[in-house]
Amino acid sequence: MTCLYKKDKKIYNIEAMEGKVLTIRKAQLEDLQQITEIYNEAVLKTISTFHLYPRSWEEQVGWFKSHGDKHPLLVVEENGFVIAWACLSPYSDREGYQHTVTDSIYVREEFRRQHIGYELLSFLAEEAQKLGYHSVVAFIARENLASIRLHEKVGFLYRGELKEVGFKFGKWVDVCLYQKMLEGGEGR
Ligand SMILES: CC(C)(COP(=O)(O)OP(=O)(O)OC[C@H]1O[C@@H](n2cnc3c(N)ncnc32)[C@H](O)[C@@H]1OP(=O)(O)O)[C@@H](O)C(=O)NCCC(=O)NCCS
Repeated sequence: MTCLYKKDKKIYNIEAMEGKVLTIRKAQLEDLQQITEIYNEAVLKTISTFHLYPRSWEEQVGWFKSHGDKHPLLVVEENGFVIAWACLSPYSDREGYQHTVTDSIYVREEFRRQHIGYELLSFLAEEAQKLGYHSVVAFIARENLASIRLHEKVGFLYRGELKEVGFKFGKWVDVCLYQKMLEGGEGR
């Protein structure tokens, strides 16, 4: 796959899926309905998030507003149709953790395995670097092989795991911690 880097206003174009050109850009409030649709499907069907119930519109608006220039929320879209979204969020609200962020990434089910997640997470990591963060961390259910592989491919390193901290779909779930160091590029 080739990428067309069109850097005006931080808009990148990805040529993917049999020549279709997809855009990565900052999310607008008009995208929130589709972002929510993608997320709530994952809430109900997957172990990727430990929310157990679909998020309400009010909850989603509050979440959307908490993401601004310092914690970008991005979408991959084609003519307004949102295919995937990703964001950076604070690791903790305690000041000493201000240089660390966590990532979230969700691709519509029917568009997975076409390298869209890879392009979006790579872009998000570059944004985190430009924003001056020191590292990005991800908490990933051990059985979420797709996300583990994706994060490894983007350069995240395995830092350990917690046994049975999650419970979903009637069973305990182990959660792995992954981290990508940003200053200097190499994991330390
Ligand atoms: C995880 C997710 C974002 C990956 O997005 P994607 O666009 O399908 O991933 P990509 O096509 O870019 O794949 C990148 C790499 O991840 C790995 N991968 C992706 N899906 C995989 C799967 N189902 N099984 C095994 N490896 C997988 C592969 O190594 C792949 O590289 P390759 O195709 O060159 O081998 C997507 O599966 C998703 O939205 N899942 C539900 C939500 C979720 O789990 N979010 C992360 C929460 S921690």
